[in-house]
Amino acid sequence: MDLAGRPIVITGGGTGIGAAAAQACAAAGMPVCIAGRRAEPLQRTVDAVKDAGGQCIGMPLDVTDAAHAATLLDAATEAFGPPWAVFANAGRGLDRPAHQTTEAELRELFEVNFFATCRLLNVAAHRMLDAQSGGHLLACSSCVAKFSVPYHAAYAATKASQDLYCQSMRLELAPVGIHVSTVHPISTKTEFFDVSASVSGRTDAPSGIDHTPRWFQQSPERVAKAIVKCLVKPRPEVWTSKLVRMTSALRTLWPTVMDRQFRRMLDTQRLHRG
Ligand SMILES: NC(=O)c1ccc[n+]([C@@H]2O[C@H](COP(=O)([O-])OP(=O)(O)OC[C@H]3O[C@@H](n4cnc5c(N)ncnc54)[C@H](OP(=O)(O)O)[C@@H]3O)[C@@H](O)[C@H]2O)c1
Repeated sequence: MDLAGRPIVITGGGTGIGAAAAQACAAAGMPVCIAGRRAEPLQRTVDAVKDAGGQCIGMPLDVTDAAHAATLLDAATEAFGPPWAVFANAGRGLDRPAHQTTEAELRELFEVNFFATCRLLNVAAHRMLDAQSGGHLLACSSCVAKFSVPYHAAYAATKASQDLYCQSMRLELAPVGIHVSTVHPISTKTEFFDVSASVSGRTDAPSGIDHTPRWFQQSPERVAKAIVKCLVKPRPEVWTSKLVRMTSALRTLWPTVMDRQFRRMLDTQRLHRG
């Protein structure tokens, strides 16, 4: 697939994985429309793409606003023509033991990570179907969509839900030439951990990326490269770590053995938490 001239919409494009994806997609010739709540990081990404010779516009908006999907797709269409691809990437974490998570926290997290993703991909799918254009829908899930870890129950639940939703969507839309892919990053060096600690009221920052093993860390550019590869040659899932992908398979096959491993991790985190 030649990506040149095929527009893409990316939520959460001001920082981290979304910003790196915007730059990588623009370098592949895709006009890019990015969104996020803060205007400043959006402008930084727009400038970086333009400085490198690409096309990019930024739309400050909140993905939990019901109108965001139509607003964003309209803006992209007006600037570059109907989007070929949509990457629902905006999201955040919550660092809290499951039994201490309030219903309000659960609902807020699902609004951003799950419902906003479904809304954007659904609206985009309708437009692609009406235009009989084909296209590519992507959601930024996580490796924890396949196996959860201590203190991230709510977050993992949102990512697993996204993953399953997209699995059905993929089967439904494949016959009409619309690809659906989920992206499953491991720990990525972005603002994610700081935002998660701050939203969770954890000033001791035990959840920082420094507390994850080095082999479990990667750069946002690594994820962006894998996303472009998937846009060129569509596949159901984007993984950047074979080892972690294997872990997810082992977790399904041998939950008792893998629980033992994860409990060791829990003990380590307890130490960090004092
Ligand atoms: N970093 C990791 O280790 C990791 C691992 C697996 C999966 N992921 C997933 O990767 C995606 C991107 O995260 P990241 O690591 O790149 O972290 P990040 O730098 O914090 O990016 C999250 C982006 O989402 C945007 N966002 C958050 N809430 C929003 C809202 N209500 N409306 C609009 N935009 C919103 C943020 O922009 P504003 O704050 O300006 O709105 C920000 O640009 C997330 O879905 C995350 O769950 C991350």
